[in-house]
Amino acid sequence: MKLLMKTTLAAAFLLAGPVMAGDPAAGESKSQTCVACHGEGGNSTLPMNPKLAGQYASYLEHALRSYRDGGRKNAIMAAQAAALSDEDIADLAAYFAAQSSEMFVVPKK
Ligand code: HEC
Repeated sequence: MKLLMKTTLAAAFLLAGPVMAGDPAAGESKSQTCVACHGEGGNSTLPMNPKLAGQYASYLEHALRSYRDGGRKNAIMAAQAAALSDEDIADLAAYFAAQSSEMFVVPKK
């Protein structure tokens, strides 16, 4: 019984396929356009642009896929996400998630 369970679990993992883990270094080079709005390393100082630094990668990935696929509506980010592949999204999410969030940056007026 135990062996059966182990085998079933192993099969389930194999069927689920590889989890796409982003590459932070690749994400950094893809983030050039993003930092114009989201700040260096994703530490935005403009209140209208959310901070990306230190957010969970899974959350960032979900947000980017939603903008791209139309589930989350925002004209600016829809345009930004339109051309991103799943790999780009995983890389960007890994990069911004790995940045330390500077929580106490005073927003510019
Ligand atoms: C022209 C400015 C601009 C650029 C360039 C830009 N963004 Fe954004 N981004 C925004 C704004 C504004 C929002 C908030 C949109 C909303 O209200 O949903 C946002 C939201 C997001 C969010 C959701 C954050 C959250 O907390 O829910 C993510 C993730 C994101 N952007 C990633 C990126 C990435 C990655 C790039 C580069 C490929 C990028 N953005 C480029 C302006 C920009």
